[in-house]
Amino acid sequence: MTTTAHEPPTPASIVILTGAGISAESGIKTFRDHNGLWENHDVEEVASIQGFRKNPVLVQRFYNARREQLLDPAIQPNAAHTALALLEREFKGRFLLVTQNVDNLHERAGSKKVIHMHGELLKVRCEVSKTVYEWPVAINPETQCPCCQQTGSLRPHIVWFGEVPFEMDTILDELFDTAIFVSIGTSGLVYPAAGFVQAVPEATWKIEINREKSEISPNFNDHRVGLATDLVPK
Ligand code: OAD
Repeated sequence: MTTTAHEPPTPASIVILTGAGISAESGIKTFRDHNGLWENHDVEEVASIQGFRKNPVLVQRFYNARREQLLDPAIQPNAAHTALALLEREFKGRFLLVTQNVDNLHERAGSKKVIHMHGELLKVRCEVSKTVYEWPVAINPETQCPCCQQTGSLRPHIVWFGEVPFEMDTILDELFDTAIFVSIGTSGLVYPAAGFVQAVPEATWKIEINREKSEISPNFNDHRVGLATDLVPK
């Protein structure tokens, strides 16, 4: 008599999308809340290639200030970042964390598989060679690029309006095959991230955690309203 070995059930998969709301309680400003970054700055001026060409000093100054703020010892990962790192460690299926945030608080909380679809604040890129550098300090007009030796060729490693987010192929592959999709702390106003909830299979369980109803709330099966530090650990 032969026995048939039973295959374990296919492990579930989860894709998590985070936005500025998850870092708000760590002291980093969101973009569109009251007193958010886009209330006090012109997006076209500081977050577009046209703005950078027109006034590189202003743009570098904007990102220098944000870089400096991120490195302030008072800015630390919060309970929501930590809970996601714990989930990644304990989850038996496929796990992917996609963040629109350019801070490094997910990594500092212990997350490993993170895609920064909008870039990273502590990196810069040479416009000539496209080489990406870890860059935790300020850039000014005299800063020389380590590879091309020119001044003015380094730009923030940030996806600006009109540019294509990073690693979209990997993100879409995971979205097309995920059992669970969770969106945390994002207004659902910026595409392509705002469209992820509609890219997942129909059977995917879709959960939204946000302080308020977002533009894309009706697309979720489960919508939880409250603070990320309270709801994500739960
Ligand atoms: P937004 O500022 O547009 O939205 C933040 C969302 O988080 C809002 O819906 C808030 O209600 C919510 N929120 C605030 N505090 C929260 C908290 N403590 N707990 C839970 N939710 C909270 O930020 P994003 O949606 O991330 O792109 O913005 C998307 C993109 O637009 C950013 O990545 C950035 C920006 O322009 C680039 O710079 C390329």
